[in-house]
Amino acid sequence: MKQDLTLMPTRRGVLGTSLAAGAVVTLAACGGGKSSDTPPSATGTATNAIPLAELPVKGTASIAVNGKNYLLYRPDDKTVLAYTAVCTHQGCTVGTGDSSNFICPCHGSEYSKLDGSVTQGPAPKALTRYATSIEGDEVKIFL
Ligand code: FES
Repeated sequence: MKQDLTLMPTRRGVLGTSLAAGAVVTLAACGGGKSSDTPPSATGTATNAIPLAELPVKGTASIAVNGKNYLLYRPDDKTVLAYTAVCTHQGCTVGTGDSSNFICPCHGSEYSKLDGSVTQGPAPKALTRYATSIEGDEVKIFL
């Protein structure tokens, strides 16, 4: 199986929502080119994002939930990071990129997979991050 996974919206369809009871494992949304170290709060609705088995360690996935695109990255066994896939430059959909960065195909902006910060412009600020949790065999994202 390839390490980078790209899931089309039709594969999972419109994902159902449910309230989550698991531990939050990722970071909060932030503004600016640098990210915040403040963990995100798990407010919002927890939505099934992807089966954990489809996101291997060091793997990346592009998913759609309710018509919006998100990027997931799993840096280790117990952590999944989630970001909007909307580029902060002019709104193109950011791709799964390489092993370290998400890359926007429109003008080449790059964002760190570890915190969403801009590693190469012209993007003016970091990708918005979302809280996630791993519950059993599912990754949930709090939207
Ligand atoms: S819209 Fe992404 S780099 Fe310009």
